Amino acid sequence: MRRAAIESAARMGLRPILVAETLPSTRLRPAHTIEASFDAPPEAWKTLAADLKGEGIDAVVALTERSVVPAAHLRAALGLGGLSPEAARLCTHKGAMKRAIRTAGLPCADFVEASEGLTRDELVERLGLPLVVKPCVGSGGRGARIAREASEVPETLEDGWMAEAFIHGTEMSAEGLGWGGQMRAMNPTRYLAVGEASVVPAPLAAPEEQAVRDLHGAAWRALGVERGLTHMEAFLTPEGPVFGELAARPPGGHLMRLMALAYEMDPWELAFRVECGEHVELPQPRQAAAVQILHPGEGIVRVASGVETVRELPGVTEVTLRVQPGDRVDRREGTGQEVGHLIVTAPTAPEAEARLRAASEALRLEITPDPGHAPLPDVGLD
Ligand SMILES: Nc1ncnc2c1ncn2[C@@H]1O[C@H](COP(=O)(O)OP(=O)(O)O)[C@@H](O)[C@H]1O
Ligand SMILES: [Mg+2]
Repeated sequence: MRRAAIESAARMGLRPILVAETLPSTRLRPAHTIEASFDAPPEAWKTLAADLKGEGIDAVVALTERSVVPAAHLRAALGLGGLSPEAARLCTHKGAMKRAIRTAGLPCADFVEASEGLTRDELVERLGLPLVVKPCVGSGGRGARIAREASEVPETLEDGWMAEAFIHGTEMSAEGLGWGGQMRAMNPTRYLAVGEASVVPAPLAAPEEQAVRDLHGAAWRALGVERGLTHMEAFLTPEGPVFGELAARPPGGHLMRLMALAYEMDPWELAFRVECGEHVELPQPRQAAAVQILHPGEGIVRVASGVETVRELPGVTEVTLRVQPGDRVDRREGTGQEVGHLIVTAPTAPEAEARLRAASEALRLEITPDPGHAPLPDVGLD
């Protein structure tokens, strides 16, 4: 569940209906909730749509990766505009997505799907090393791994998995907002450390930012994205930006919070309004905002201190640390898992980066390695 989304809807005076696989605690729930399996077939969404007919629903917004396809089925059954089930499939299955992107002639890594039946040697021969093996469906880096040597490449790809050539470049993301099939406004995000630290807006040179914007717009057309707030990942290379993936939902990794701080507006509000068919504007950024996600690795926490000191440092707007000495921390499997985070703002991105570094250094989070089992709660998405 994404609490900020529910809070924004309430602030806007909307009457949100939360459809979730597991309902949050009553304190955080909107008045109207529906529990439903997101693996339910399209028929189930038609039934739900029929039940909801009298509610006067204006829009269905997917808040998480897993809800993109179900939201599209519900939207279609309600006769609402927005991402269609076909487009949702392209945006949530990396194999289908890359096929559409390649067919459109956009730059992306060469890739192989399991159905091609290639052996380890053939995969290495085709894609070179390193290569990346990943599940076609998922987010937050869960399951993706880099094989640097042939011995790390599976003998054959399991069903539902794919392999990609490794792209040498600087990874970034871009948050796109649009309607009528056109991506019209975009925020660039710099990944200071992939899955761990980001700054918004990314300090890109104008031609580079334009190239990312063009790629994002072309990806919308290739995938059939009609409207909404999308999160594209790309790699900056000397030959220009290379497409990584596109998520047809708002970004995780605290990027919505960073955008709120940098642009001094509520990006959830923009996402909701655009989904309701309104035309919105992304204002000019007023400052930069950066996040450091905290995760010490797997083990038992030995030291967790410095929060009070960090809070006093310039530009620090948020510090949370949810562990204490003695707590067990599990291995980080997805970028949504964290034990806390730091958020800073500054007039420019380089200053925000410097403040983030200073704040991170003032925080002490150490573990004694000890493989744990209790999984960490997943608080966001990639
Ligand atoms: N072809 C690639 N070249 C280089 N790095 C990659 C490639 N594919 C994935 N990665 C790395 O793995 C991470 C997770 O892969 P991604 O395709 O973004 O899946 P997810 O949906 O889980 O985020 C990426 O953020 C990137 O750092
Ligand atoms: Mg990703």
